[in-house]
Amino acid sequence: MSTSFTMLGGEGPDSYRQHSKYQGGLFEAAKEKINKAISMKLDIDFTSNLVNIADFGCSTGPNTFKAVQTIIDAVEDKYQKESYLDEIEFQVFFNDSSNNDFNTLFKTLPQTRKYFASGVPGSFFGRVLPRNSLHVGVSSYSLHFVSKIPKEIKDRDSHGWNKDIHCTGFSKEVVKAYLDQYKIDMGSFLIARAQELVSGRLLLLLGSCLPNGVQMSETLNGMMIDCIGSSLNDIAKEGLINQEKLETFKLPIYVAYAGEIKQIIDDNGCYTIARFDIISYENEEIPFDPKFLTVSFKVTIGGIVSSQFGQHVMEKTFEVVKTKTQEMIPQLANAKPGMQYLIVLQRI
Ligand SMILES: C[S@@+](CC[C@H](N)C(=O)[O-])C[C@H]1O[C@@H](n2cnc3c(N)ncnc32)[C@H](O)[C@@H]1O
Repeated sequence: MSTSFTMLGGEGPDSYRQHSKYQGGLFEAAKEKINKAISMKLDIDFTSNLVNIADFGCSTGPNTFKAVQTIIDAVEDKYQKESYLDEIEFQVFFNDSSNNDFNTLFKTLPQTRKYFASGVPGSFFGRVLPRNSLHVGVSSYSLHFVSKIPKEIKDRDSHGWNKDIHCTGFSKEVVKAYLDQYKIDMGSFLIARAQELVSGRLLLLLGSCLPNGVQMSETLNGMMIDCIGSSLNDIAKEGLINQEKLETFKLPIYVAYAGEIKQIIDDNGCYTIARFDIISYENEEIPFDPKFLTVSFKVTIGGIVSSQFGQHVMEKTFEVVKTKTQEMIPQLANAKPGMQYLIVLQRI
């Protein structure tokens, strides 16, 4: 099964570009902590006057532009008193899977940017930059993607078969299969970045995690994904997709607990943890309504659905999701809150 992990591209009404304010809000909420970490922990010797920054899983913008600008501002702030600041140049590497919409990303680069921009397509679970070349890496809302679907959860005859389209949290076998894959992938990510980072430089990780004792399907994200699963079932009953194919369709997503992430970093051994913050934020710009929720999940998960079942089925599925979401609003309003994290790692 080939799986596309990318967000819906372009600049239109159903694009990630237009519907990623929620993800962008976390960077805003974490900005002060990031400034502090860069001010206290980042030491650049400027022998080459070049600062290399990379965003892993950048998508199409605009969040990636905010992320790199935040880092550049913090570096400039830290070194503002140095006479050679004017000579410092910033180079930014935008990384995502090769089927990401890089055209939109580069078309919409901020006109006023003060950095050189390059694309480095490819999986961030492997190397995408030369050894010892990176000064600050960042990855935001990207590390909940796993590189592949664990085999046993797709197999109806296996103990670990997952009847749902994602890891709801309620089956021990399914959780174990996803977590094992997540550990492998996160470990590969950390090893690749450790090779790319110059010693002493920083890696910033941001994203969602689960509070202890909370299962994925008890959160709003989990409930919305369950709703996408049940909408796909309705579509299968109408005969638009094959039920057997649907039974093997699983999302490559695992939202970890903070403790699991910390353990993987400790086991990796290449970094010290400079910060591990849990950030609670409410993005007040976000309307809580069926149309908004539907499109927010369409731009992130729609690409995976259409890569498996085609564009027409994907559009139909999200029409059903919208109707169901309307009925689910009281249930969604009572969802258990998820959590966001900012982790700052310093390469040993
Ligand atoms: C939800 S988007 C986050 C985009 C952006 N960082 C933000 O905060 O808005 C997740 C991104 O991770 C990318 N991604 C997932 N797995 C990847 C991989 N193995 N290698 C590179 N990019 C990946 C997806 O293509 C997608 O663009």
